[in-house]
Amino acid sequence: MKAVAWHGKRDVRVDNVPDPTIQEPTDAVIRITTTAICGSDLHLYEVLTPFMGEGNVLGHEPMGIVEEVGPEVTNLSPGDRVVIPFQISCGHCFMCDQGLQTQCETTQVREQGMGAALFGFSKLYGEVAGGQAEYLRVPQAQNTHIKVPDGPPDERFVYLSDVVPTSWQAVEYAGIPDGGSVAVFGLGPIGDMSSRIAHHRGHRVIAVDMVTERIERARSNGIEVLDAREHDNVPEAIREMTDGRGPDSVIDAIGMEAHGSPATGLTQQIAGLLPDAAAQKVFEQGGVDRLNVLYQAIDTVRRGGTISLIGVYGGMADPIPMLTLFDKQIQLRMGQANVKHWVDDIMPLLTGDDDPLGVESFATHRLPLDDAPHGYEIFQKKQDGAIKILLRP
Ligand SMILES: NC(=O)c1ccc[n+]([C@@H]2O[C@H](COP(=O)([O-])OP(=O)(O)OC[C@H]3O[C@@H](n4cnc5c(N)ncnc54)[C@H](O)[C@@H]3O)[C@@H](O)[C@H]2O)c1
Ligand SMILES: [Zn+2]
Ligand SMILES: [Zn+2]
Repeated sequence: MKAVAWHGKRDVRVDNVPDPTIQEPTDAVIRITTTAICGSDLHLYEVLTPFMGEGNVLGHEPMGIVEEVGPEVTNLSPGDRVVIPFQISCGHCFMCDQGLQTQCETTQVREQGMGAALFGFSKLYGEVAGGQAEYLRVPQAQNTHIKVPDGPPDERFVYLSDVVPTSWQAVEYAGIPDGGSVAVFGLGPIGDMSSRIAHHRGHRVIAVDMVTERIERARSNGIEVLDAREHDNVPEAIREMTDGRGPDSVIDAIGMEAHGSPATGLTQQIAGLLPDAAAQKVFEQGGVDRLNVLYQAIDTVRRGGTISLIGVYGGMADPIPMLTLFDKQIQLRMGQANVKHWVDDIMPLLTGDDDPLGVESFATHRLPLDDAPHGYEIFQKKQDGAIKILLRP
């Protein structure tokens, strides 16, 4: 089959690889009909290369049709239409029972000290072949699936794999009081969708980015926007919009690759040039994140407010302003999204006629799988108006 494989820094190719097969009784194989490129794939494309292996199949936002199931997968049959969550979870362990699927004790990548295995996501997360491909092997398939109805187009449901539940969790973790306000940093797919969800729930949303079409798109959805290029001091500008106090909550939907932190940008580049083992040490023992947006989030949120980190961070020794966090009495929540935990809350918003989150028009590009290398390039460089790219195998 064809699959999008990693070959090096900024080098992904469409390779011919063996078709996946059932290896465990809890596996399923699905034929992928739509799959997406995510901001998390961009970390693998450039910054997290020390953890990648040549030929690793990428992708963690797929949906499709069940082809084959192992004997222990009794709740799925060939022909079922499913979306596959980006994390692999068993559905019956201590963590899954609490809705913490990204900490699943059956699939935790213990040798790396990490949580649940993820599709297409480097050695750190189990090196499981990903879903930018014609077919996908789904481990723990009895739980690692979301059944969706036949009929509506794929674009109604494909974002259940990641974007919508992740943004939902970002808003939940932000703990925005009724009628309260939230600043959303970043208007990539995650920040954009988080803004839509918070707005839909009646909160005041102020969103920040530095790419014109992303800002304009949020504005056209009724979101108040702020262009970071036009302000020397973004937190101060947001305070001025919120009675001098700052918003109740902040969502950081940018994470470790924020633009505008030259010093750590260099560390990330150097780590990318070292042999893998040495570079992994730099990540695991050093401060490698570009922290300027996290610092802005801490500065922006009002005293006693909550910060929800949904953008990914990866350094083990990043300097954090504990004095400010403590003195401002800030609550901080974060983590990979527990996809299945939020599905029942979200589904009614996807199946109605009105499409309140605008998922059907969310993608800016729909490309054949063969064009994935081009898709990665324009998404990373923010060219050609690329905000969300779907691939059709
Ligand atoms: N926690 C999870 O489960 C989860 C799931 C999916 C994605 N993510 C993470 O969410 C983050 C966003 O993902 P995405 O798909 O939206 O990616 P993206 O790269 O398209 O979005 C990032 C946005 O931040 C903006 N930005 C960068 N630096 C900025 C700055 N200094 N000021 C203002 N804006 C700035 C960029 O212009 C871009 O629009 C990534 O870190 C991704 O890994 C986390
Ligand atoms: Zn994703
Ligand atoms: Zn589990």
